[in-house]
Amino acid sequence: MTYEAVHQAVTVIRSYLPEDFIPKLGIILGSGLGDLGEHIDQLACISYKDIPGFHISSVPGHAGQLVAGYLQGLPVLCLQGRVHFYEGTPVDSMRVMVRALQHAGCETLLLTNAAGSLNADVPPGRLMLIKDHINFQAINPLVGPNDERIGPRFIAMNKVYDEDLRKKFHEIAATMDLKLEEGVYFGVLGPTFETPAEIRAFRILGADAIGMSTVPEVILAHHCGMKVVCVSVITNYGSGMVDEVLTHEQHVVMTKMMSGTLVELVQRFAKDMANHE
Ligand code: HPA
Repeated sequence: MTYEAVHQAVTVIRSYLPEDFIPKLGIILGSGLGDLGEHIDQLACISYKDIPGFHISSVPGHAGQLVAGYLQGLPVLCLQGRVHFYEGTPVDSMRVMVRALQHAGCETLLLTNAAGSLNADVPPGRLMLIKDHINFQAINPLVGPNDERIGPRFIAMNKVYDEDLRKKFHEIAATMDLKLEEGVYFGVLGPTFETPAEIRAFRILGADAIGMSTVPEVILAHHCGMKVVCVSVITNYGSGMVDEVLTHEQHVVMTKMMSGTLVELVQRFAKDMANHE
């Protein structure tokens, strides 16, 4: 079912684009991080409601549109706004959205998100590359019949966050004098933020950052053979690490503050990728 659904979605996306446009990089933007879309030389901006199988996020800070065009000369498809399982999003939508990027031609997927820090040495305002994750969402987007045309039944998860791409990001960050952290992302279902006891437990489990997104998309992308790279914007310390009450709005404000730096980092990455095409 999803294979046909992916085809349908890609047929619609392609109908908005010149035939010779083959996107190389898929981008999924997190809450409050939609600004990047404005830096793309746009060929098309398609509302999710016009793409079969795509699902509009109910969360403030997510635009719900696909932007296609050139970022620093690199052909990209950018999802401005993502869906989360805590919204009650059908798993099929999540599958179609990620697989459509791959099916349209994107070999690499770049994801951004907002995350809380579980590491006292990584304060809010930093950017962190994800080097590994712990899936604590109690859900895996690959549960159900497997379609071998998309990917294999069982997949190794030891080399998910591409080492060469992370190296590239570090090199680029160095040219910007930017301190780029690297750590383990702990994926929770949400929508509640964590209790202080949960945060204490997750820190012991080896996590550096926590958030309610990204993990299912990363699993789907890895399953269909995409290279994955992911940057978290650290918006807050985990619950109980400091004396404050967490709010989504506060995270959106923080991501907006950091968005310029993130946009610069991603633009330099896209330029480098375009130069190596
Ligand atoms: N917990 C879960 N998700 C988040 C957080 C957090 O502290 N910050 C941003 N997204």
